[in-house]
Amino acid sequence: MTDANTQGSGQAKAQGLANQAEIESVVDRILVELKDIPGPLLPILHEVQHQLGYVPDSSLPIIGKALNISRAEVHGVVSFYHHFSSKPRGRHIIEVCRAESCQSMGGRDLEAHAKFSLGLDWYQTSLDKEITLEPVFCLGNCACSPAIRIGDEVYGRMDAEQFDEVVDELRTVPLAFSANPAEVK
Ligand code: FES
Repeated sequence: MTDANTQGSGQAKAQGLANQAEIESVVDRILVELKDIPGPLLPILHEVQHQLGYVPDSSLPIIGKALNISRAEVHGVVSFYHHFSSKPRGRHIIEVCRAESCQSMGGRDLEAHAKFSLGLDWYQTSLDKEITLEPVFCLGNCACSPAIRIGDEVYGRMDAEQFDEVVDELRTVPLAFSANPAEVK
């Protein structure tokens, strides 16, 4: 099972579209494990995204059928929560904390810098599929605000320069080439 604090490991797997056989295999396994727990829909969607890196449209009717709800109801939940993505996200998910402590310690400037230097808005993925930028609300690292998380690793006391250094290490191309148009979720 995953939650908002551990999703990074699954996101790191998001490197491309899964084929339908893979989708069905993963979703079927998750349904066997979770469909009978109380309030199963959100845990199932979290686990699908954790394992596939996104929630494919083709998984919605499978989930709906197993839970005896419509595809539209499943889709409504997926679209309501920004956490869920219907398309594969980047190989690296960079989450920038937008909660109070980080905001009071320069988080807004860090957000602006992250968007500018990556050429991405929230929930967008770079065309090279390397990076997706997402907001997050408190990483439990308030004493070292402002903070970001990449995968399972939390970085504190970030400024623009440190952000660029960390991102540079992630990319397979230099950061200077990253300011491309981006795909919207
Ligand atoms: S407010 Fe950003 S880590 Fe807590």
